[in-house]
Amino acid sequence: MFDVKLEVSNLLASKISDVDQQQIYDMLETPPNPEMGDLALPCFKLSRILRKPPVQIAQDLAAAIPENENIERVENVSGYLNIFLNKSQFINKVLSHILKAGETYGSSDMGKGKNIVIDYSSPNIAKPFHVGHLRSTAIGNSLYRIFEFMGYNCIGINYLGDWGTQFGKLITAYKKWGNEQAVKEGLIKELVALYVKFHQEAEKDPSLEDEARQWFVRLEQGDEEARSLWKWFIEISLEEYQKVYDLLDVKFDSYNGESFFNDKMEPVIKELEEKGLLKESQGARIVDLEEDGMPPCLILKSDGSTLYATRDITAAIYRKNTYNFDKCIYVTGVSQSLHFRQWFKVIEKMGYEWHKDLYHVPFGTVSIGGEKLATRTGNVVLLEEILSKAIEKTLETIELKNPHLENKHEVAKQMGVGAVIFSDLYSNRIKDVSFSWDEVLNFDGETGPYVQYTHARACSVLRKAADAGAELDGAFDSSLLSSKEEYQLVKILAGFPDKVKQALENLEPSILTRYLVDVAQDFNRFYHEHSILVDDEALRNARLALVQAAKLTLSIGLRLIGLHAPERV
Ligand code: ARG
Repeated sequence: MFDVKLEVSNLLASKISDVDQQQIYDMLETPPNPEMGDLALPCFKLSRILRKPPVQIAQDLAAAIPENENIERVENVSGYLNIFLNKSQFINKVLSHILKAGETYGSSDMGKGKNIVIDYSSPNIAKPFHVGHLRSTAIGNSLYRIFEFMGYNCIGINYLGDWGTQFGKLITAYKKWGNEQAVKEGLIKELVALYVKFHQEAEKDPSLEDEARQWFVRLEQGDEEARSLWKWFIEISLEEYQKVYDLLDVKFDSYNGESFFNDKMEPVIKELEEKGLLKESQGARIVDLEEDGMPPCLILKSDGSTLYATRDITAAIYRKNTYNFDKCIYVTGVSQSLHFRQWFKVIEKMGYEWHKDLYHVPFGTVSIGGEKLATRTGNVVLLEEILSKAIEKTLETIELKNPHLENKHEVAKQMGVGAVIFSDLYSNRIKDVSFSWDEVLNFDGETGPYVQYTHARACSVLRKAADAGAELDGAFDSSLLSSKEEYQLVKILAGFPDKVKQALENLEPSILTRYLVDVAQDFNRFYHEHSILVDDEALRNARLALVQAAKLTLSIGLRLIGLHAPERV
């Protein structure tokens, strides 16, 4: 991979004693304004090590840099060494590299032989798949693709919330007010309605809560009626989730949810006991975390039943034994941060050194009209509804702009769904987001459809070139790409591998999402300023090389955030 920063830092390091190449590499900055160079070394950072004033360092370095192919000239400006690259060399190396790498541009094998477990989506059975779960699904799916691209072997787990006291409530409600026909027709909506009704009625009649508890105990003890209703609720829910996953193009390698661990917790509780970690507290069994500044982690309730944390601890040990993961990543709302910190600590106290490989990847809350989402009150917007509206709207636009487009329904799906995923991945994940129909359905500006549209525009140019027999044959003269738009586009394309790495290291897909908008904008600036299919063959070839490189980068980037890159829209 051609990394100009690497070459420049090597050169500089050879001129400075006491500082190694990596340090210089990390110090090199990209100046805010291209007139200040393509790279800059802030010499005040070296001042203490070299015991010289920054201005002096910049001056000495400027004088010491020999003629070389990568650098056109250097300037020292108030303690900064501003470096101007040899543009033609740079463009040549970057574009040649991208075109040669093709679909693998930006990838690496840094993850070879390492397993990454990603726990994402994980909706709760019999509850709707709403915009909150979209975030976990979209972030987890993107991380999966990014890690895979970097050579890791990923195991995507949908840790279904398929166990817990809510099933006692649901069974109670179903037996009292539900019927088979209504559930078969209304599916999750009907189950949610029953759940909501349970809470309304239980406020008036608290004895319903006891009844629900009893049903849950029966479920735990394997009562046949309770179990078959529970299984049925899971079936119905999964069928509906599957529709959403198909639309989103998201897959999992395992659906082992909470109930999978029912019969695996006992040995873990025993282990906690043997390691002297369990304490009695008001009849319950806890791991005390006072010295770690956290409330205790509940392992067993006073009635002997297990909890969310008990299952997570058990599941983590199981995953370590099964997948021997390098990292195990959990994507959930920030409201669960304490939960993860607590049981990660318990794993540490159990003496498992791999506790440091557990990562919670939290995201901000999603609200609707300023209110929290809550299944109980019915304040949810179903994802399926959002996706179908977005698809419908995209189709309307296609009918207007390009009514003869082949497979327009498929394209409308890819762009409509793309718009929703993209807007979800656009903000820093920790930021709270407020759901609004207007925003989700507004495709102007910094959106998925904008990037997809730009990609299709690049494809269209390449198609036209091919049709006219003016296809790029590989060779191009980079010195002809001499405008600032062309240089800027090459520079941003060169930054792609680094962005992928940053997204991976920070577990933050939004780094790529934003980057793609920048690439699209730079591409469109270039496209508007310059004709590509010009008569001059050499110039045409050079520009086609640039278009091809941009097209590749856009399509790879879109794929990494979970979007399709249709070639015609
Ligand atoms: N089912 C949970 C929820 O919807 C998320 C589960 C996250 N994963 C985990 N291992 N705890 O809030």
